[in-house]
Amino acid sequence: MSEENNVKLELDDIQSGVLRPRPTPYVATYVAFRIDDRKAGRELMDRFSQVVTSAANPNGPLADTSVSVALTYQGLKALGVPQESLDSFAWEFRQGMTARAKELGDSGESDPENWEQPLGTPEVHVVLVAVSPDKDRLEVALDRARKTYQELPGIEAIWRQDCHALPDEKEPFGFRDGISHPAIEGSGIPGSNPREQPLKAGEFVLGYTDEMGGVQKTVPEILGRNGTYVVFRKLHQRVAEFRRFLKAQSNGPEGEELLAAKMMGRWRSGAPLALCPFHDDPELGADPSRNNDFLYEGDDSVGLKTPGGSHIRRTNPRDAAVAGFARIHRMIRRGTAYGPTLPEGVLEDDGADRGLMFAFVGANLGRQFEFVQSQWVNDGVFFGAGDDRDPIIGSGDINFTLPHRPVRKRLRGIPRFVVTRGGEYCFMPGLRALRWLADLDAGLEMKKR
Ligand code: HEM
Repeated sequence: MSEENNVKLELDDIQSGVLRPRPTPYVATYVAFRIDDRKAGRELMDRFSQVVTSAANPNGPLADTSVSVALTYQGLKALGVPQESLDSFAWEFRQGMTARAKELGDSGESDPENWEQPLGTPEVHVVLVAVSPDKDRLEVALDRARKTYQELPGIEAIWRQDCHALPDEKEPFGFRDGISHPAIEGSGIPGSNPREQPLKAGEFVLGYTDEMGGVQKTVPEILGRNGTYVVFRKLHQRVAEFRRFLKAQSNGPEGEELLAAKMMGRWRSGAPLALCPFHDDPELGADPSRNNDFLYEGDDSVGLKTPGGSHIRRTNPRDAAVAGFARIHRMIRRGTAYGPTLPEGVLEDDGADRGLMFAFVGANLGRQFEFVQSQWVNDGVFFGAGDDRDPIIGSGDINFTLPHRPVRKRLRGIPRFVVTRGGEYCFMPGLRALRWLADLDAGLEMKKR
């Protein structure tokens, strides 16, 4: 075992939302806060440090219930974090998601001008996320959290989003989600692809060595250590439009399901095309020991089974030949669904808001989330498909190529099925760092020493 393999993550200092997969099924609530008073903000950090759950093996009735807290750059400023410390955070984080709209493809309807208020504005300072297997336990956790901020003048809860699992772990388009996760060295939490070597801890947590041999640190070190970046995006899904598109492009239900699978790279059951290219296999889709056990290059370099342009092959090309090195663009995802299900077979939009609260966790906003979103989702050059884009989540003029013999098929002018309704770039501190923020004056003293 190499020295790196012996890396032990300080799980009791890392928030559970960073490393622990969400329960199945789940209910979740997001709450955003504005800090109007610096002292109250620091008090809030102190109180939150007592309700936030760590990634260390939890026990007891609330074991699967997590409460995580993250701050925007504006939030760190509102707490009075000194400039030297602010400057030590990632450039993209300091810019904020709104300023990165062009790179992220947030144009037209997805333009921050059209976002749900107050998302993407300087008003959002802190985001709290509670996730639990059921409503009762979520309510207990939220109640504990509520006691920390209610009756704290100078702290305002300004936005809330409730989420809940849909039947069979599916997302609103009807595909099983939450299947593919990387393994992280030293976390003790297994990944879901037995063919993927665990990634260096520094890819996901600040203060540890990453895949490039670097260690990300902030000023002072305690502020960043065991923390990480989190991207929240509220993504509205046009389910009726997606269904109409599949119908219009196919001859009958079987063709619709095959086209849907080709666009995603998995059948709706979760079964990967890589392992069952011609028909669905719901048993395989539901089997976590098999449903992520595959690579692409060996027998499908051309993409005859899983198109290079499909959502899962774009967002994680695994061993497929692409420009670049896939391991440095991996991410942890923590999506939770919101809104009512559109009943099966309905093809007309009912006007309800439904979609995913997408959450990315990783130590490198630039080469992980932003790279995947801008280069792999909204471009096709990296695998030789010119201006093709992700047919599920792409933005702009979306074309999709289905490799086929003797001639490939090309779908042009695919409508946009996912619209950004808002989002934030956040920093999720370690528990010690939360207390450092709570006690900022003393923290500044520590820095001088
Ligand atoms: C509403 C928007 C989205 C929907 C409906 C969606 C849906 C899905 C589904 C059904 C899967 C397959 C299940 C799994 O592997 O866990 C998946 C995988 C994945 N998605 Fe998305 N997704 C969305 C947005 C995004 C975004 C914005 C990104 C990143 C920029 C992303 C990155 C990924 C990654 C990395 C995987 C795993 C691929 C793999 O390892 O094989 N997704 N997504």
